[in-house]
Amino acid sequence: MSSVVLEPNPLREGLEQERVPDASCLVIFGASGDLTHRKLLPALYSLAHDGLLPAGQAIVGFARPEYTDEAFRAEIKAACNEFARTKPADDAIWQNFEKRLFYVQGSFTEPEGYNRLKQKLAECDTTFGTGGRRIYYLAVPPNFFPVIAELLGAEGMVADPERGGPYTRVIIEKPFGRDLESARELNRVAVTTFRERQVFRIDHYLGKETVQNLLVLRFANGFFEPFWNRQYIDHVQLTVAESIGVEKRGAYFEQAGIARDIIQNHMLQLVSLVAMEPPVAFEAEAVRDEKVKVIRALRDFPAGHECELSVRGQYTTGSVLGEAVPGYREEPDVAADSRTETFAAVKVFIDNWRWADVPFYLRAGKRLPKRVTDISIHFRPAPYPLFKKIQGGRTQPNVLSIRIQPDEGISLKFDSKVPGATIRTAPVTMEFRYATSFGAEPPEAYERLLLETMLGDSTLFARRDEVETAWAWLDPLLRAWQNSPEPPDPYPAGTWGPPAADAMIEREGRRWRRP
Ligand code: BG6
Repeated sequence: MSSVVLEPNPLREGLEQERVPDASCLVIFGASGDLTHRKLLPALYSLAHDGLLPAGQAIVGFARPEYTDEAFRAEIKAACNEFARTKPADDAIWQNFEKRLFYVQGSFTEPEGYNRLKQKLAECDTTFGTGGRRIYYLAVPPNFFPVIAELLGAEGMVADPERGGPYTRVIIEKPFGRDLESARELNRVAVTTFRERQVFRIDHYLGKETVQNLLVLRFANGFFEPFWNRQYIDHVQLTVAESIGVEKRGAYFEQAGIARDIIQNHMLQLVSLVAMEPPVAFEAEAVRDEKVKVIRALRDFPAGHECELSVRGQYTTGSVLGEAVPGYREEPDVAADSRTETFAAVKVFIDNWRWADVPFYLRAGKRLPKRVTDISIHFRPAPYPLFKKIQGGRTQPNVLSIRIQPDEGISLKFDSKVPGATIRTAPVTMEFRYATSFGAEPPEAYERLLLETMLGDSTLFARRDEVETAWAWLDPLLRAWQNSPEPPDPYPAGTWGPPAADAMIEREGRRWRRP
């Protein structure tokens, strides 16, 4: 096993300096919620810690509960101490950060709060030089999106980019609808107040370093791309496994299920990055044009036989990482006869020249044995088994495995001669680990995505047509599942899903890789 040594990179410092954006006012709608506490403010604090937040950046939390600025800051400091990558908060950095952190109380649905907010933002412009630049982060359930967009528009809080002047941007969180129709409606509402280029749809997988590295791996190296096609690749596997259950999100998950929660967005983003053609430039529209082509090329599920290319599962009581855990139907806010899937495996084809007839096997699930997101590219075997006579021809196919999380890295499995007087082969692995080569933890996805929004670069955000095309592909399967008389197959928590998921791939002479 060898590891990759990082070359000194003289460009790194320069790049970071170039990428410090102008200060703006970032308003977080839903500031009292979980996402704000666990992800957004810890990410902003870590950016400040690393010197990547512009000096005058103002952050205003907006939500219904009453807080003074002081109480809000104290709560956020505790959250940063617990959740920030750069925890615990450093006193000097925190003091500087909290001076620019405010709270405005208000209801999402009534104009009064928006007036108070407007006033606070104007004050920030004067005090911090934020120059009228606005970013609205909607960390709220999607049903609030239309009313917030409408009131922001009605209160004159959205600048039209066509007129020049300071920008207004809006960040929206998934879910972007629950089917094609609702996604279209959300997008329609979005463009009544904002133009598409003002809308940043967050899919936090795109902020993960390893996900971005897929593009670098494929397009910054001459080595991989010649093999990256149906001639050399037998099949591709993608696994998004989580050891956690639905936690306190039973009510949400009952309406979603794993296909809406993970496959429609995070997994299709991964598929499109693995399968896309080289973009003409590394810029938002060029990259997203290529990604959406992949999603458009996904083969439709055969009408009337949608369920044959998929397996649905639901966890029952079991044990995960040595701890006894309840079944899905025993979770809070979950119906005792729920038919919501907590696991899904789907076989997918991309009907284009590069990928014709190469299966992509996707699986995602809750309460699996461990948390791991992994993409593996399984190459075709060598064309002629030269060592057949010596050891029965059992050489192993090469596998390139891209570990998105945890232990981020890339490994390549190939056959090697076992030392000794006879020719015997055994699989060995060449490894690259982020932690070893770069000596640092990669930044949190939200850090990167917040910074990109401040910079106005939407390369790492989902475009309207991507979202809608993904729903158009998935909807028939969701409908077929819903209309099927069969419930999802049970699987004990702590296992790799129902046996049918193994059978699906094994009947084709392949096996799920155990990541
Ligand atoms: C979210 C889903 O989008 O992604 C959650 O709603 C899931 O259900 C989470 O747990 C997984 O994210 P990560 O970064 O932990 O892989």
